[in-house]
Amino acid sequence: MCGIIGYTGRLDALTVLLEGLEQLEYRGYDSAGVALLSSGNDRFLMKKAGPVATLKDACTAVDIESHCGIGHTRWATHGGVNDVNAHPHIAGRITLIHNGIIENYHNLIDRFGFRDSLVSETDTEVAAKLLDHYYKGDPYDAIRKTIREISGSYAFCIMFEDIHDQIFCVRNISPMVAAHMEDGSFVASDVTAIIPYTNRYFVIPEYQIVTLRQDGISVQDLDGNPVEPEILEVSWNVEAAKKNGYPHYMLKEIHEQPEALRNTILPRLREGIPDFSEDEIPDELFSFCDKIAIVACGTAMYAGMVGKALIEPIIKIPVSVNIASEFRYENPLVDARTLVIVISQSGETIDTLAALHLSKERGAKVLSVVNVKGSTIARESDYVFYTHAGPEIAVASTKAYMVQLASLYLIGCRMSMVRGKFSQKDAGEFVSRLLDTIPAVQKILENKAKLKTAASILAKAKDAFFVGRGLDYAFSLEGSLKLKEISYIHAEAYAAGELKHGTIALIEENTPVIAVATQDHIYGKTISNIKEVKARGAFVILITKQHAEITDDICDMHFSVPVPHDRFTVFPVAVILQLLAYYTSDMKGLNVDKPRNLAKSVTVE
Ligand code: F6R
Repeated sequence: MCGIIGYTGRLDALTVLLEGLEQLEYRGYDSAGVALLSSGNDRFLMKKAGPVATLKDACTAVDIESHCGIGHTRWATHGGVNDVNAHPHIAGRITLIHNGIIENYHNLIDRFGFRDSLVSETDTEVAAKLLDHYYKGDPYDAIRKTIREISGSYAFCIMFEDIHDQIFCVRNISPMVAAHMEDGSFVASDVTAIIPYTNRYFVIPEYQIVTLRQDGISVQDLDGNPVEPEILEVSWNVEAAKKNGYPHYMLKEIHEQPEALRNTILPRLREGIPDFSEDEIPDELFSFCDKIAIVACGTAMYAGMVGKALIEPIIKIPVSVNIASEFRYENPLVDARTLVIVISQSGETIDTLAALHLSKERGAKVLSVVNVKGSTIARESDYVFYTHAGPEIAVASTKAYMVQLASLYLIGCRMSMVRGKFSQKDAGEFVSRLLDTIPAVQKILENKAKLKTAASILAKAKDAFFVGRGLDYAFSLEGSLKLKEISYIHAEAYAAGELKHGTIALIEENTPVIAVATQDHIYGKTISNIKEVKARGAFVILITKQHAEITDDICDMHFSVPVPHDRFTVFPVAVILQLLAYYTSDMKGLNVDKPRNLAKSVTVE
């Protein structure tokens, strides 16, 4: 949610910033802007509503020698999408970019009498004004005084007009990383913008002031004491964050799923059994609890639904799946005997983070399943289980979902062993079935062409329904989210038996219904529900296991997944549903990787 980048060094700052913004654009693409300082203390500002490409066009004729600047790509929260509300914001000697929300900005406007001099509708401009108000030549003093006044979340990069080669950064909650190398110093919302230059970086600690200079970076706490940040290394290279010949990141990421599964599963196996000693996750974590609460948002929450449907029947203790944005306000049943599993690709989702804080306050133990190394959720959890999807750039999550599932399967297996529900033999069999899903996923990818025909039907639809029972229902939820978020087709998922309690009224001639029926014990029931919609004119796209008996009165199109065991069908089914959504969006000519109104990492409530 908003991407920020800053650079000071010997390279051309404008080039570095524009390239960085392109990498960060998935964090928000309502508007973009850059500000530069030159050694002659000239200040240059360019900001434009629209994507980074619009800003880039506007900058082609710019001829300014600058080696220090900041850039921003915005996902609008306060104030409409226009040039004025775009960042950077200038107030007096201050130039500022911001990711987050300043919650008390109205109050600050009144207290400091800013109302008449504001030019934008943003909360960010108020922070710039406040900094300028406090700036009397000492940047640290001004920053300290400003953040004492501000409540909310922020990652700020600040340039002072009279300090032409330095950038000052401070953050609370909103993410920001920094790195120094021979060519200079960088700050960014995440490592994707920095990775072309170095794989060594650090996460800017909260409430500490970071100063970027051409020849190094210093960190100090709010009392001015120097701080040594912890240097991290990214394990993927710059190629991993590029499209590598695919037309879209989403398609590339869908194809990376077999590798992501291998990378996530294999390092956790010892003699074919899940073993988390290298993750430093003790077995007691799985034995102390009398209930499990899974908390997440969106796709990650739907991965949690699959986790519940898998784990609860085996370990036989209550597993709840909670929408993170609801959890903290609903007095959840979480106590010292609860294991809270938070799931997040970015590790920065603010609602999930807040749920984590509440769970810890209540004495629960928190295990997070996170993709981004060193992210806030990872750092604040008691234990972290990293998924190894590599960078996920497309806004619609695919490979991260896949490895979240794999992680929950591994966790479920280990927990079942620890709680005496699985013998070594059961666990070994479970893992070997899990591993068998990798070639099954690969096979779907190799035979994907037929899915385009189904997508061409969906592309003409206004509404679509996804139905399934049990685990199949849990997968359908994610299938429907994928379709709606990138193709803008209204899509809903229902437990198949629930349709006739209302929703079936919406079925008309040719309404697409994507039915998932891979669970043997409820296969017949699901097929009956499918016949009910088929009889009312629905165009049924059916997904089953191989060898299911299919007749024409059941469906119009049929896809099968090469996985014989019910518990494991989600992996290839997920790929089918992702590809259906992908092709539908592409056929409609939509922006697959950057669907309207969305952003990749949701750092506002
Ligand atoms: C949808 C999607 C979102 C995220 C959700 C949580 O494709 O990606 O629904 O799953 O915003 O994000 P993370 O996993 O980063 O916490």
